[in-house]
Amino acid sequence: MNVPLLDLVAQYRTIKDEVVPALLSVIESQQFIMGPAVAQLEGEIARLSHARHGIGCASGTDALLLPLKALELKPGDEVITTPFTFFASAGTIHNAGGTPVFVDIEPGTFNIDPAAVERAITPRTRAIMPVHLYGQMAAMERLLAIAEPRGIKVIEDACQAIGARRSVDGEWRLAGELGWVTGYSFFPSKNLGAWGDAGMMVCSDDRLAERLRKLRLHGGAKQYHHEEVGTNSRLDTLHAAVLLVKLRFLDQWTAARRARAARYDRAFAALPSVCPPRVDPANEHVYHQYTIRAERRDELAAHLKGRGIGHAIYYPVALHLQPCFAPLGYTRGSLPASEAAMASVLSLPIYPELTDAQQDAVVAAVREFYA
Ligand SMILES: Cc1ncc(COP(=O)(O)O)c(C=O)c1O
Repeated sequence: MNVPLLDLVAQYRTIKDEVVPALLSVIESQQFIMGPAVAQLEGEIARLSHARHGIGCASGTDALLLPLKALELKPGDEVITTPFTFFASAGTIHNAGGTPVFVDIEPGTFNIDPAAVERAITPRTRAIMPVHLYGQMAAMERLLAIAEPRGIKVIEDACQAIGARRSVDGEWRLAGELGWVTGYSFFPSKNLGAWGDAGMMVCSDDRLAERLRKLRLHGGAKQYHHEEVGTNSRLDTLHAAVLLVKLRFLDQWTAARRARAARYDRAFAALPSVCPPRVDPANEHVYHQYTIRAERRDELAAHLKGRGIGHAIYYPVALHLQPCFAPLGYTRGSLPASEAAMASVLSLPIYPELTDAQQDAVVAAVREFYA
């Protein structure tokens, strides 16, 4: 049986009857730019993040870039982040004029290690950008305890983690709730995916929200009046209309992802060559990815390919080893936990529409390899 890594067509079939009329109503109105669906979505995403403001933008990348621009980084200003992430987390720091400072990850959760962050603080540190990788939150309370007394901002990269929660002092805190500002991606493959590129920032600081709203509109709140230089980074009304429909299903889809993950965990428990994802007991994981560590990972990947089982390596080259960041001076061995992760991780199909039979085929192919 062929099992794709992701099946957006299957998802489309389940929501077609609701999404298509929503799109048609935008088309009938011809309000493609900043139509009412955008403000409605901004309100709803802010609410689900326990934040006061949502500010739509063109992509998850821009949802990180615009807050970094708001920091007005000077050459030599540093932003600490993880190297074990999608490129945008660090590319945006560079493009905002800062220097990415990479620190290692916790091997269990794959998230940034707060102790390593603390060791990397310098007088030039302006921000910390944790990434809630694969759908599990970083240790936000520990990062904030390092950042806040020093006046350092925490920008959450929640592109993979919409709806993820973490228990802090006995209370659930949402992705997007604790940081200075948080970036979401609505790239089609995300847990909440648009039908094209889209993103959103959330924050609770009224002045920052106003600033971000300006930065996405060429730096001016009023048309043709520019207080600063921004860019064109809006979330299209058509995307907002799709996302508003999909948002109604997000809780149910997340529950399905979690159920699939629990089923994989049980299936792999007796397989010593496979290490299922570790969830910090404080976290509720939303499983954007179900990522195992696997012995002989590349051979397993080739075996799965031969059996028609979708899989991916997120990420095969940690960012501190990317050629574009060579001038920063990191070498192989600089960040060993990230380097061990890039050599052993493998993501398996985990979308809500995955059937029991498909999941059984994935498990059988993995078991067959190690038999
Ligand atoms: C961790 C992380 N950061 C940033 C991004 C950038 O988002 P986008 O592709 O919407 O620009 C993504 C997604 O692709 C991501 O997974």
